Amino acid sequence: MNVLVVGAGYVGIVTAVCLADKGHNITCVDTDEEKVRQINSGSCPMHENGLQELLARCVSGRGTLKASSNYNGARDSEIIFLCIGTPCNSRGRIDLSYVKGAITDIGTVVAKSNNHPVVVVRSTVLPGTMEEVVIPLLEKSSRKKAGNDFSVAFNPEFLQEGKALHGFMNPDKIIIGEYDRRAGDTLEKLYHGFPAPVIRTDLRTAEMIKLASNAFLATKISFINEIGNLCKQLGVDVYQVADAIGYDPRIGRMFLNAGIGFGGSCLPKDLSALVSTAKEAGCEMKVLEAVLSVNVQQVTRMLEIARKRLGTFSNKRVAVLGLAFKPETDDVREAPAIAIIRQLLVEGATVQVYDPLAMSNAKKVLPPEVKFCKNARQAVSLSDCVLIATEWDEFKNENLYVGKLVIDGRRVLDPDKAKRVCHYEGVCW
Ligand code: UGA
Repeated sequence: MNVLVVGAGYVGIVTAVCLADKGHNITCVDTDEEKVRQINSGSCPMHENGLQELLARCVSGRGTLKASSNYNGARDSEIIFLCIGTPCNSRGRIDLSYVKGAITDIGTVVAKSNNHPVVVVRSTVLPGTMEEVVIPLLEKSSRKKAGNDFSVAFNPEFLQEGKALHGFMNPDKIIIGEYDRRAGDTLEKLYHGFPAPVIRTDLRTAEMIKLASNAFLATKISFINEIGNLCKQLGVDVYQVADAIGYDPRIGRMFLNAGIGFGGSCLPKDLSALVSTAKEAGCEMKVLEAVLSVNVQQVTRMLEIARKRLGTFSNKRVAVLGLAFKPETDDVREAPAIAIIRQLLVEGATVQVYDPLAMSNAKKVLPPEVKFCKNARQAVSLSDCVLIATEWDEFKNENLYVGKLVIDGRRVLDPDKAKRVCHYEGVCW
């Protein structure tokens, strides 16, 4: 099929490359000329396991993927995916300004098309956005009627950074929120052969499925963090508790790793958006509000533990290992490490950091006084205290920390082994 993917961000590129690999003809549109140039030269503008190789194969080898900074030649598209970022504004609401701009552009493509295209939104939006914002805007800019002249669907993604290719090719479910039957039929055809149940539903339900999914994952994390905080107090190992309760299929072991909490561009943002929407609707979300506040508290706990052991951060040299919000990514958005470093600087510490992938992204958001080290050993060797904020494999070697004060935020080290070589404490163990 001829598919247009609007937005060469994380979701857009993964969607474009995976569909191109399946043999569809993909054009990826982005306003960033540099990204377009990179993609067309076979180079991936961001880090994701396996994506570079697959992108190069689709661009140069199979010729199924190209990028463009305009919509010329988009007229033949049978499906148009909207994969534009939806950041949160200061009130915790999803900011739709980028989406609205792109929808207006897509409307002009729809206006010229004789193909009855299907416009599919993949960006995370609040329930009601498709009906109240996207469809009216599309109809206005195309001067055509949704359901008659073109079709509309909401098809959320559930990709995890670092595992996105596997996640796209082997989804646990495919959710199709459809405005009209033709939209659902076309998407079902596109996803034919994917080993997953297809759930066809209405737009609002699909919008809510995505948010509820992220809210539940975040809830599991804050739940185990709260249990972990108490376990530490009572001398119980929360990881043994998690392993044991995880055998119950109703609970499941995944997302029960206690520590300094969740970051990233999705979980914190989606949860805040859900909570503030609920507030405006007069519907209090006590559980989700608590999930957010426990998450903030975990970062504070790590700092409190270190502060207590050091007496003060003032004039202390603190090494922070790990800057990405999780391993296998260079993404530092909402990463606990960034909040930790900012607070350390406020309290007068000298901060030296290392991350295997996320150093250049971290440099863009951290103040210049932070010292970026060339490896973990260099960061650790000059420090009074080491804070481990991301569970990269290369931080798992106890010998790196001999004689040091180490506060582990991710259970990177085995506590018994670590205590033999360094002054070790975990955030909730
Ligand atoms: C998350 C969801 O997992 C995806 O299903 C969803 O598609 C995506 O958001 C999105 O909305 O686009 P992602 O942001 O890549 O994916 O990250 P996760 O793997 O979910 O991790 C989120 C955070 O939770 C990380 O900071 C991680 O360290 C933390 N976490 C995860 C824990 O603290 N404990 C755990 O047990 C698991």
